[in-house]
Amino acid sequence: MTEGTAMNRIERVREVVDDMILDIKDNEERRCAYVHLYGVSQACGLLAMKRGENVELAIIAGMLHDISTYATMSSEDHAHKGADMARDILKELNIFSKDEIEAVCTAIYHHSDKELEHGPLDEILKDADVMQHVLYNPLVEVKANEQERFCSLLEEMQIKEK
Ligand SMILES: [Fe+2]
Repeated sequence: MTEGTAMNRIERVREVVDDMILDIKDNEERRCAYVHLYGVSQACGLLAMKRGENVELAIIAGMLHDISTYATMSSEDHAHKGADMARDILKELNIFSKDEIEAVCTAIYHHSDKELEHGPLDEILKDADVMQHVLYNPLVEVKANEQERFCSLLEEMQIKEK
């Protein structure tokens, strides 16, 4: 990677995400937003590297994926609402192509459908969401609806389950 961090596109999106998070009044919610959005974003980056997918778009999808939940403090239909919000943000920034915006927003749109399989970027985001939930505290039992994806991730990473 040759580009510096100063004005690259990840940092441009981060500014918007950080502004949104700083607007959250409740300290605990604000903390959750940082930990989760950036945790998922980093897991997205790792999985994109591993799978040979677009790391930049994966990182950005992770940062924005729960934006509706944190902007409105309601998780109702947040994947679909979040895709619309992310589309507005990315269009407004005016630094992404139509296809790039669609790839990110489609991944966000699908990310609650963990039991279904979608495109490569969509799957990275779903898996990264699960990874962040589990790695936040691996001593806690994995949620039933995340077990299958987590097992596949361990296999992909060649980590043997105890
Ligand atoms: Fe999430």
